[in-house]
Amino acid sequence: MARRPLIAGNWKMNGLTADGVALATALAARIRENPPAADLLVCPPATLVDRVARAVEGSGLAVGGQDCHGERSGAHTGDIAAAMLKDLGAGYVIVGHSERRTDHGETSAQVRAKAAAAHAAGLVAIVCLGETEAERDGGRTLAVVEAQFGGSLPEGATPENTVIAYEPVWAIGTGRTPTTAEVAEVHRTIRDLAEKALGSAAAARLRILYGGSMKPSNAKELLALTDVDGGLIGGASLKAEDFWAIAESAR
Ligand code: 13P
Repeated sequence: MARRPLIAGNWKMNGLTADGVALATALAARIRENPPAADLLVCPPATLVDRVARAVEGSGLAVGGQDCHGERSGAHTGDIAAAMLKDLGAGYVIVGHSERRTDHGETSAQVRAKAAAAHAAGLVAIVCLGETEAERDGGRTLAVVEAQFGGSLPEGATPENTVIAYEPVWAIGTGRTPTTAEVAEVHRTIRDLAEKALGSAAAARLRILYGGSMKPSNAKELLALTDVDGGLIGGASLKAEDFWAIAESAR
């Protein structure tokens, strides 16, 4: 089953209006000139979702949030509901990124609620999972991924409303990546878990992204793996040239 790759940029806590809009506009222009063989998505900080979505409207570049609350509305100072992102033009939201799990103590149960809230608002949830270095060194990678997958995926998840991103914590922002054999093993495991949870037809359509120090020089090799259906890119998504080169690697 052919899955159209998704190349997603997670800008994290980077960018003010001028540079964020310029970056998104540059990507939108490239897409118009030379449509890629992948879906392209940028996830700016929440403060820029509106401006970026307006700047790229109609270009084919999708826009997403980096987090949402698990409830639809209410007394949650500083939080953002999935419907608010949707209202600004977002089509996706990242949930359960390891930086959220670490910095904000988010549990898989909370991630599951966030993904369910995203679905209810009509957003595609990009559910992140991945092991720490100590967990990999302890031989627990597959067990950790299995537990996070089981705990973070809500009822009603489908390949249309959900994307999985495997991001080994120790590979994020470090320049280090697992070997292609290690990435292939984890992605195969996630596909197997999806088969059990969603059935084989749905699992075959589910997009599973790799994230963690993906860059132009290693993207082709990673994206060529059978069960790698795109990338979730941090640092290299902040430069139009690098992000575009990664998108081109998905051809
Ligand atoms: P880097 O590409 O900077 O390693 O970040 C990956 C990531 O966390 C994307 O969500």
